[in-house]
Amino acid sequence: MSATPGARWQVSATRRIEYDLLNVADVFDPRSDALLSMGRVQDGRRFVVVDACVHAHHGERIRAYFAQHRIDARIITLPGGEGGKTLDAWLEVLRELDDFPIHRRDEPVIAIGGGVLTDVVGYAAASYRRGVPHIKVPTTLMGYVDAAVGIKTGINFNDHKNRLGNFEPPRRVLLDRGLLRSLPPRHLRNGMCEIVKLAVIRDAALFGLLERHGAASLANAFQDEHGGEILDRAIGGMLEELAPNLHEEELARKVDFGHTFSYGLETRYGDDLLHGEAVLLDILVSTAIARRRGLLDAAAAGRIFALVERLQLAPELALLDAELMWQSLLDRVEHRNGLQRVPLPAGLGECVFVNDIARAEIEVSIHTLNQRTTSSHDRIAEC
Ligand SMILES: NC(=O)c1ccc[n+]([C@@H]2O[C@H](COP(=O)([O-])OP(=O)(O)OC[C@H]3O[C@@H](n4cnc5c(N)ncnc54)[C@H](O)[C@@H]3O)[C@@H](O)[C@H]2O)c1
Repeated sequence: MSATPGARWQVSATRRIEYDLLNVADVFDPRSDALLSMGRVQDGRRFVVVDACVHAHHGERIRAYFAQHRIDARIITLPGGEGGKTLDAWLEVLRELDDFPIHRRDEPVIAIGGGVLTDVVGYAAASYRRGVPHIKVPTTLMGYVDAAVGIKTGINFNDHKNRLGNFEPPRRVLLDRGLLRSLPPRHLRNGMCEIVKLAVIRDAALFGLLERHGAASLANAFQDEHGGEILDRAIGGMLEELAPNLHEEELARKVDFGHTFSYGLETRYGDDLLHGEAVLLDILVSTAIARRRGLLDAAAAGRIFALVERLQLAPELALLDAELMWQSLLDRVEHRNGLQRVPLPAGLGECVFVNDIARAEIEVSIHTLNQRTTSSHDRIAEC
């Protein structure tokens, strides 16, 4: 019998995505069961990947934790930093994982580190045996409020950031802000740039919190009460944006504020310019554009610049380059399916999307920013 001409089969399915994020105090305290709260504990094994800096600070406690719970743990380390987000790192995790067979369903891989480590390990977990579960423990502010919150994984490839990767939800995200204590100040400021992004584009109350308490919270690595409030509010806001659009079917995303011109800057400056630092430069140019278009009044724009100054985020305005940023915008047009879809602030905490930014507008905005800096003796309090 031959096949029926014209026969057609159709498959339609949805994959349910469910994970939780949990504030935990002292995640490596042997009395805490948070790290083992998912999966098999009796005769259990765990494959654990730890950022090398985090291992230097907490390695002994991490080993003691698993020993205390009688878990057979294979603990490997990976270097942090953008240079570690490579195909080689991804392969190394896979080789080690293949050498330490874990149960496919109930022994989740545990990723403990910054955005680089959780992106690499998330991608490896998604690839191994077509997907094994993983748990994330972010240890940088960037990871805490951004990289570990959503479902994107990835590695850099062919000189492009995040060119390989996928959407793979973790099973659980454990948030222990105590881990931020050992984070160098530059990396605290780096993560703060993403919090400023959320405040400007979607949350005026968070903006007010940052104005009142942001500098003090940064100074004590978010260990104070207000620091906790800022973190909770940032994560809640981030999730409200991400959750309805986990697979980015909607390409106009408020969380892309600061992520249009920054792409080119990050690609050019590599490890010398951190993700959040590039995002901050983009935020400033976008704010200047919004001010020129009358989307922001002088007072609102002034508050944004004043906050950046109060937090001592110290943007490297000298890196701004109109041609580079224009090319970056063109690249984002490809990424956003043919339209610019650039989020701009329209009043503090509000957002509009525009599709008509011209190269000249970027140039003039950079010029305005530089002029403000010079005329106010390296301060950018007003626009
Ligand atoms: N998946 C996503 O949705 C998403 C979102 C935002 C950013 N990212 C990615 O995140 C990456 C940046 O992440 P990052 O800023 O966390 O960088 P990172 O992971 O490189 O960490 C920064 C530095 O801090 C060190 N470190 C980490 N935790 C520490 C701690 N507790 N104490 C002391 N040192 C510590 C690391 O070794 C590294 O040197 C970028 O690659 C970016 O693309 C991903």
